[in-house]
Amino acid sequence: MCGIIGIVGDKPVAERLLDGLRRLEYRGYDSAGLAVLDDGKAARRRAAGKIKALESAFEADPVDAHIGIAHTRWATHGAPNETNAHPHRAGRVTVIHNGIIENFRELKDELHAKGRTFVTQTDSEAVAVLVDQAMDEGITPREAVQGALSRLEGAFALVFLFDGEDDLLIGARRGSPLVVGLGDGETYLGSDAMAVGPLTRRVIYLKEGDWAVATRAGATVYDEDNQEVTRPVALLEANQAVAAKGNHRHFMEKEIYEQPEVVARTLSAYVNEDLTISLRDGLDFSQFSRVLITACGTASFAGEIARYWFEQVAKLPVEVDIASEFRYREPALDTGALALFISQSGETADTLAALRYCKDAGLTTAALVNVPESSIAREADIVLPTLAGPEIGVASTKAFTCQLAALAALAVAAGAQRGALSKDEATAHARSLMHAPHLMNKALETETDIQAMAQELSRARDVLYLGRGVYFPLALEGALKLKEISYIHAEGYAAGELKHGPIALIEDGTPVIVIAPHDKLFDKTASNMQEVAARGARLVLISDEKGLKEAADLEPAGIAAPEADPLIAPIVYAVPVQLLAYHVAVEKGTDVDQPRNLAKSVTVE
Ligand code: F6R
Repeated sequence: MCGIIGIVGDKPVAERLLDGLRRLEYRGYDSAGLAVLDDGKAARRRAAGKIKALESAFEADPVDAHIGIAHTRWATHGAPNETNAHPHRAGRVTVIHNGIIENFRELKDELHAKGRTFVTQTDSEAVAVLVDQAMDEGITPREAVQGALSRLEGAFALVFLFDGEDDLLIGARRGSPLVVGLGDGETYLGSDAMAVGPLTRRVIYLKEGDWAVATRAGATVYDEDNQEVTRPVALLEANQAVAAKGNHRHFMEKEIYEQPEVVARTLSAYVNEDLTISLRDGLDFSQFSRVLITACGTASFAGEIARYWFEQVAKLPVEVDIASEFRYREPALDTGALALFISQSGETADTLAALRYCKDAGLTTAALVNVPESSIAREADIVLPTLAGPEIGVASTKAFTCQLAALAALAVAAGAQRGALSKDEATAHARSLMHAPHLMNKALETETDIQAMAQELSRARDVLYLGRGVYFPLALEGALKLKEISYIHAEGYAAGELKHGPIALIEDGTPVIVIAPHDKLFDKTASNMQEVAARGARLVLISDEKGLKEAADLEPAGIAAPEADPLIAPIVYAVPVQLLAYHVAVEKGTDVDQPRNLAKSVTVE
């Protein structure tokens, strides 16, 4: 959350900073701002709301230089207005910040006592004042930042710009990522590869606690003990640098359509040509007594679906936790367990904290991540990739199905390793996994029917999603997707649980979306459909031809998904579930890619 970019170069930076912010807007869009050194003094342009508002402010009052910093904010401390928009400035120091400074009140009190004043409600301003105060006491910007870093508690990525210093930016990271980009006579700092990607392909991923002094000639990196260190220079993949919507109206739509391809790519990292499954870093599930899965949001629903797979296919017990609750319930951990963390961004603060908690407790940790350079990937013992490519839409789609594909492959591998599956059974599962991309392509064909029912659904006040077995977590995911992008209240329930309370919500015409292929649980779910239909629900059934035929007497609005092997069916059914939320949101005219109050990667607790 919050996007950061800084350039110290030999040509004008303002347009490139704005361009960088456009690429980073998915990280937060409550306000935006930039600062460049104009005649040796930082000149800021800031605006509440999206980058467009900043662009207007900038056009009305342009300014440029060869050095500058820019920020797009997801608000934590202080309302999302212009005053609280970054960059923040105190004396000669201008700063942009991603994260939370936990001891900012204490720092503010201390600085107040020294006669300093504050104009914002943010925690970030305290950092600018702290550094400026130190410089007032006669030390260099570098020494002042070094001293300030030792005072800060919390998680942050920071970039500083100093009046009178047109060849110096200082960046620092603790808890939040920061990358250095190395250009030709220019150096860049950014909150992720997306920030600097189009400017250069050569990047240094700063390690936890690192700080960097950037000049036009390059960057000097120091570790948390202030020792100069050499960090490897990585070469960005071409696709890490580019994120464009192509012919699609929204990134979310584009990402839904990319799924067959990226799921196939992800599967190729696990399933060999001979349909055996290879796991990285010698991962062997026969060594573990159980698997503890921890994640947030959509990633946690992928974990919930995987629980059914691991238990059914590999006979391996699984517990699934929401990361924000995990360490606070002080779980009794079994050191024989594998702790598996699922995260698209690899930066989710609670998931990272849960990983550290398990590592401290002596568990083996594995991370299923989409960003290989992320903190979670770096800190886990075993890294398991999803190859979804950059996901820009704030609502996760392709990362989710890639997580599912990888988790299904892991469950099959676990089944083979633990002797729960014969060789033939494992091969048959691997074969059906490899068929998933084809069926996902077919599932995209449901779009026309879904579009036709979106208008009616967009008028609903409440929507319920029902599913049984693996379709219960998929129902939770469907409800999450709908509420986050269309702002319609939605809840997911286990189909059999409805009569224990939630059925009271059903009124005449309440949409109930049932996800139920014609499998061994179909008849049970069909009974639950009868129960809600009898109470006036407007049924929407996502099923295959057989299921739709059998439920015809209930007259549901039908979405015909392709018939699929039970192992891969939830991956295939995710497609119409996503399309439904997408088209309802489009019908409502919401900001699909950047829904209100959200940010793509949640790097605060
Ligand atoms: C919902 C969504 C979120 C994320 C969650 C975890 O569409 O995207 O619920 O799944 O914030 O994020 P990662 O996977 O980056 O840890």
